[in-house]
Formats: sequence, structure tokens, C-alpha cells
Amino acid sequence: MRANKIVRILFTLIILNFFRPYTMSNSTHSNVPLSPDLESAVQEHLEHVKSIISKGPALHDTMHEICSYLHAQISHFDWVGFYLDDPEKKGYLKLGPYIGAPTDHTSIPYGKGICGQVAVSLETFISQDVHAEDNYIACSLEVQSEIVVPILKEGRFVAQIDIDSNTRSGITPADQKLLEGICALLSPLF
Ligand code: SME
Repeated sequence: MRANKIVRILFTLIILNFFRPYTMSNSTHSNVPLSPDLESAVQEHLEHVKSIISKGPALHDTMHEICSYLHAQISHFDWVGFYLDDPEKKGYLKLGPYIGAPTDHTSIPYGKGICGQVAVSLETFISQDVHAEDNYIACSLEVQSEIVVPILKEGRFVAQIDIDSNTRSGITPADQKLLEGICALLSPLF
């Protein structure tokens, strides 16, 4: 009877482990090919972002304008903002420019929430269902999905772009490509 129970538990663990890769929420869209239309839309947005960057030296204003542009252009981007490595509080993120509902989360420790995890992993994090996350900081009850992309300078974490969407499974391969392209363009400005 006891041995039977142990066998049942072991069997359940093996099955759960087999399906783990399919239940993990942070599956990104890296290397997913885009259709020609989507690819050209991404390139057009990137050209616009380049024109914003070329306008001026003030990084804060540049980031703010990028937030406004993305928020206006991409209907499922409901909150668009930047978190920066806080030079005055080691191991913390500091809220930078953003467009969307005000957030209480102006300072986030590394490792906490999706933003804090990206500051540690240095990799894009996509959650298509934030309610399924066990390490997530809720900014609004309406948010359903989120993408956070790190900005690295010579391999060192300096900032990140954070997008909240009120659409479940709202983050597309084109979104990831666009945001990673923007972060690459911004890196030399830090
Ligand atoms: N949801 C984020 C916190 C930042 S807000 O979305 C603006 C997180 O889990 O880290």
C-alpha cells in the first residue's frame, strides 16, 4: 500500500516534469520569423525611434517620447515605461519615464517581480498571463500580459523597457523584435 503510494507520487512528478517546458510562462518569441508585412511595420517603427533619438541629447526626454510613440501606435500597449538601474540604491530599479496609469512601484529590488527578474537574468521576459506568475508585482488589475526587455551596455544591465497589456496573450513576436531593436538603439546613450 505504502509502496503503491510512493510509485504514484513518483509517476506524477515524472509527468509534471515532462510537461514543464509547455507550462512555463516565460516563453519568448526569439527567432520566430515575421511575415513581410509585420517585418516592414517593425522596421518603420524602428526608423521612427531612430528619428526621436537623433533629435536630442536628453536621454530622459528621448525615453519619454518613445513611450508616447509606442503607446499611441500599438493599441495593445496599455502601459509603456522604463525602469533604470538606481545609482543611489544598489540592487534596485528606479521608475523612469512612462505613459499609462500611475504606478506605486517606483522602486523595485532586483529579483522581485518580472522587472526585478530581468535585471538579474538579463534576458527578455514575456508573460502571456500575469495571473499565472508567482513572482509578479501587480500594477493594475486590468493587466493581463507583460513584456520586459533589458538594455545592456557592454554586457552590464543599465535599464529596461516594460510593457503592460490589458489583452491576454497580447505580446506578439513583432512586439518582441521591435522592443529588442529599440533597446539596442538606446544602449549607446547610457
Ligand atoms: N509588473 C511589474 C511591475 C511594474 S508595473 O507593471 C509598472 C513586475 O512584475 O515587475
